[in-house]
Amino acid sequence: MDGMCIFASMIDSIKVHIADVAVFEATSADEVEQFRIAYLGKKGHITKLFADFRNVPNEQKKEYGQLLNQLKTEAQAKVNELQAALGGKGKTKGALDDISRPGQPIPLGARHPISIVRDKVIDVFSRIGYGLSSGPEVEDDWHNFTALNLPEHHPARDMQDTFFVQTKPDVMLRTHTSSVQVRHMESNQPPIRILSPGRVFRNEAISARSHCVFHQIEGLYIDKNVSFADLKQTLLYFTKAIFGTAEIRLRPSYFPFTEPSAEVDIYWGLETEADYRITKGTGWLEIMGCGMVDPNVLTNCDIDSEEFSGFAFGMGLERMAMLLYQIEDIRKFYENDVRFLKQFTSAS
Ligand code: DAH
Repeated sequence: MDGMCIFASMIDSIKVHIADVAVFEATSADEVEQFRIAYLGKKGHITKLFADFRNVPNEQKKEYGQLLNQLKTEAQAKVNELQAALGGKGKTKGALDDISRPGQPIPLGARHPISIVRDKVIDVFSRIGYGLSSGPEVEDDWHNFTALNLPEHHPARDMQDTFFVQTKPDVMLRTHTSSVQVRHMESNQPPIRILSPGRVFRNEAISARSHCVFHQIEGLYIDKNVSFADLKQTLLYFTKAIFGTAEIRLRPSYFPFTEPSAEVDIYWGLETEADYRITKGTGWLEIMGCGMVDPNVLTNCDIDSEEFSGFAFGMGLERMAMLLYQIEDIRKFYENDVRFLKQFTSAS
């Protein structure tokens, strides 16, 4: 054989390889790997063919080199294609091949601070026998006002700027959760011991201190011989559990649905500059309203006010959360900024 013939067959052999690569099929990742080693491995066909390059006469080097590059590119493309289809070298074929592999972590969310505080209060009162009761957010005049001893034209109605849904007959967004007291007493006889958490609405300008939507928890206890001393003891128990202090004071106040009425302050202290600011320099903080249920309210709800007496209280959840977590702006609760909400991941 003369030189030409040898080189012609070398070129042919690359062409045969190119054709072989084009038709190659594999049914497993192992077969792909064997193919890869045979063509692209250190001792594979392509390495050998490159080594033979120096023996190729100058006039054929160009064609030989082009075909060899074509073979290399096509062999690599075939390996990539088959690895992608069959899972490739070393990779498992499917997600379930190794069921002991740890799963993908699920990012932890956080409970909303209002929910955290609400559940704390519910938990504290559930230990002394309080259940839950709920009512609608869209209320009628009777349940939001009239039955609570706030008849039409009563001046105290102005204390709660109301969003009306409809007038005559009046339908409104409830301004307080006291409406749930009425609904519960209308359909239950004493003994009654309930908490009613929920959203309330007031037509107020939004600022750092007040919002037109906020949350309250209402409490109601009706039984025989319930006295103001029972109310006071319950409040002491509550403030100790939530704020860690039993140092409270009851300031005489006025609510149409309770008589006598009081506002509850806790002693917050005056240690830091912030303490001065939030307590307006007094050290005391108001946390809720309360009182003995007015006999008129019991009568309005078909409960015998000669036989039964009771107390009620109502508190704002945003206010409590602001105190407990030192949040200075009520609007933060409704902005849904994850940087704010994330801070409560471990709160409980
Ligand atoms: N309903 C009152 C308010 O919205 C809060 C309140 C005060 C509720 C005294 C009560 C209570 O049950 O006895 O501000």
